[in-house]
Amino acid sequence: MIKAMIFDLDGVLVDTAKYHYLAWKRLAREWFDMEFTMEDNEQFKGVNRVACMEILCKAAGKTLDDAAFNEGMTLKNQWYVEMVQQMEKDEVLPGVRDYVQKQRDNGILCAIGSASKNCGLVLERTDLKELFDAVSDGTVVSRAKPDPEVFLYAAKMLGVAPEHCIVFEDAQAGIEAARAGGMRCCAIGQPDVLTGYDWIYPGLYAIDQLKEA
Ligand code: BG6
Ligand code: MG
Repeated sequence: MIKAMIFDLDGVLVDTAKYHYLAWKRLAREWFDMEFTMEDNEQFKGVNRVACMEILCKAAGKTLDDAAFNEGMTLKNQWYVEMVQQMEKDEVLPGVRDYVQKQRDNGILCAIGSASKNCGLVLERTDLKELFDAVSDGTVVSRAKPDPEVFLYAAKMLGVAPEHCIVFEDAQAGIEAARAGGMRCCAIGQPDVLTGYDWIYPGLYAIDQLKEA
């Protein structure tokens, strides 16, 4: 029985995945003279900032000392935040408000489960916060997806057991995190890019009714 839904933020509710991509792309070019493609970006989706920086350094074949490593993350975040601050409310992805509201009207609890430390800023820019009963994000958990911590914490905040939760995710690491937490997962994206999901749709706008698996 579905009692709760936990939504990833970037790329599921809001079109911010492109800003993370552009900010990492700029860092890769300016620091490592590296081309960073949309394909490279798949590995960065859903993964927290430290883990992304580690992947980038490894791809560039560089070992940075702590100060430089932190400086790289700070710069990337500065560029990302500058873009988010320019965001318009219509960057909420199609069908999101209606879909979440419909679940709430049906008595399903709704939470956010995001790796981002900028979750609060994005929710504020988009006026989405009031649609959710709980927010579990990068400011309250520390383990990066595919660790299930962020989703288990969301379920705990809602008081719902994992087997009654469905996670909505656009990242492979997030799908794996949902499964590791004992939750079913509805992937948002393309079937040739993602695996291991229970359902897949191109966006929340396309979901009519998730059939109980
Ligand atoms: C996730 C994004 O939601 O948040 C990742 O999919 C990002 O790409 C991660 O790295 C951490 O975000 P932030 O805003 O804390 O750097
Ligand atoms: Mg995402």
